[in-house]
Amino acid sequence: MDIKSKIREVQDFPKEGINFKDITTLLKDKAAFQYVVDQMSKQLEDLEIDIIVGPEARGFIMGTPVAYKIGAGFVPVRKPNKLPAETLSYEYELEYGTDSIEIHKDAIQKGQRVAIVDDLLATGGTVLATTKLIEELGGEVVSINFLMVLSFLNGKDLLKNYKVESLIEY
Ligand code: PRP
Repeated sequence: MDIKSKIREVQDFPKEGINFKDITTLLKDKAAFQYVVDQMSKQLEDLEIDIIVGPEARGFIMGTPVAYKIGAGFVPVRKPNKLPAETLSYEYELEYGTDSIEIHKDAIQKGQRVAIVDDLLATGGTVLATTKLIEELGGEVVSINFLMVLSFLNGKDLLKNYKVESLIEY
């Protein structure tokens, strides 16, 4: 399947100069959606994954069907003040300023095998921060799986200590 042909490119969104990769056109296509979930699940099925962690919001969309398919639990990583119980936060640098993400403190048990699933690797900041939360809770980050990688942003360098896989690269 030509996955790239299913992803709409929107020029100058959310700001000028950015060529946004819009996965909504892929998600609404039943054959394409099933194909990418199956392919991402195949990359993970032999790794004995206990938990899939998905960063808000598109990580929820890609992560939950993969978790269901491989028989793993799903844990959301969210933007601040969204999770109701006790959380752990991690603050990370952006080009201008900082951002932070949160996980429930009881979401992962020590020694659990965890994979992170998200739609897109850009700078790698979001997923690197996600690895910090998982590791602080004692989880082992076994694999990081993206639908797509923007390789010109070199996010893989930031994640060089991890096994990183994707279905397509730009
Ligand atoms: C996007 C994308 C990744 C992240 C990648 O999410 O879904 O999670 O950015 O960027 P990075 O590699 O530079 O960290 P976004 O923060 O736009 O949130 P959304 O999924 O809620 O739109």
